[in-house]
Amino acid sequence: MAKIQDIGKIHHSREKLLKKGTSAVSKTGYFQLSNRRYLGNKYKLLGFIEDIVNQKCGEVKSFCDIFAGTGVVGERFNTKYIDVISNDFLSSNYACLQTFLNTLQALDIEKIQYLNNIFVDDNYFSEHFGNRYFSMENAKKIGAIREEIDNIVDNQQEKNNLICSLLYAVDKVANTVGHYDAFRKNMDSIKPVNLLIPNIDYSHNINNKVYQKDANQLIKKISCDVLYIDPPYNSRQYSDAYHLLENLAEWKKPDVVGIAKKMDRKHIKSDYCFKNASNAFSDLIGNANCKHILFSYNNTQKLKDDRSNARISDDDIFDILNNKGKVVVYEMSYKAFTTGKSSSDGNIERVFYCKVK
Ligand SMILES: C[S@@+](CC[C@H](N)C(=O)[O-])C[C@H]1O[C@@H](n2cnc3c(N)ncnc32)[C@H](O)[C@@H]1O
Repeated sequence: MAKIQDIGKIHHSREKLLKKGTSAVSKTGYFQLSNRRYLGNKYKLLGFIEDIVNQKCGEVKSFCDIFAGTGVVGERFNTKYIDVISNDFLSSNYACLQTFLNTLQALDIEKIQYLNNIFVDDNYFSEHFGNRYFSMENAKKIGAIREEIDNIVDNQQEKNNLICSLLYAVDKVANTVGHYDAFRKNMDSIKPVNLLIPNIDYSHNINNKVYQKDANQLIKKISCDVLYIDPPYNSRQYSDAYHLLENLAEWKKPDVVGIAKKMDRKHIKSDYCFKNASNAFSDLIGNANCKHILFSYNNTQKLKDDRSNARISDDDIFDILNNKGKVVVYEMSYKAFTTGKSSSDGNIERVFYCKVK
């Protein structure tokens, strides 16, 4: 760590981390953007990230979350005064980002009720995923709902909203530890799948934008005050962990193979999971048109399990960011949501802040 120029440590009280819009308590019948299990999500780090922005960035008019995942970081900055740009190359994430961060009018509750009471029968989803990731009854219902969504929607945004509602409902009844690399052997405590309504403050979404693009392509087309960068850290592809949600969101009913029943995912492999991730990062930073950069990257660089090792070295991070401006690193202890195999309790989560020259 010899090259770290300045380490600002920020400490948080519990109240601080849970303030403003991140309460996990749901209104009955509704779900929040953060009510979802997602590897590497930054829900517990929102206060930490917000403090860095408040300390370093001054007045912020636009915030771009270019590897948005659940979108929880962009949502934190989504006020009437800040335009939020969110992006993720997975269709499943895109549908949810569109729903929470770009929808301007309420979802038709009658359509949700209708889908919750739909007639179920065998289908593509139950054939492949029933009695594996879901009870057979839930799998039949999930497939039936997804099929019917395409028949009842009036426009693309309504389709995104209903798919999002389905994806969140699916996460609640999946027989998994939170991702779809594998399913649990015992199918216990499985509740019936039930769609809820997204809880959205529409007035904050007016000037927002949501994209489904490769971050390195999108960066050439946008500008913003604050660019938040949270790519995958290691070789685990998000398209492997969330293939099932992607399959359900796209609903092209592809062939699936193996015990995990994965479809072909060649087109959604991230450069940031390969050994040459530094080249992708260098290209991204080189093309960034912004005033401030916050880069989240953790410290799991030399674990025994090679799959968990960080793909971009600290030396590369500093070389690349120092070319763009002055760098400060912030650290916070953090118990991450991992896949369970190579648990990293006591993990230090880092945010590299760069004031662009
Ligand atoms: C660490 S996760 C982001 C988590 C997010 N900050 C949250 O709190 O939910 C990284 C995300 O980047 C997306 N991703 C990976 N490579 C990408 C690329 N080249 N372009 C756009 N998105 C990408 C993945 O689908 C994944 O959702």
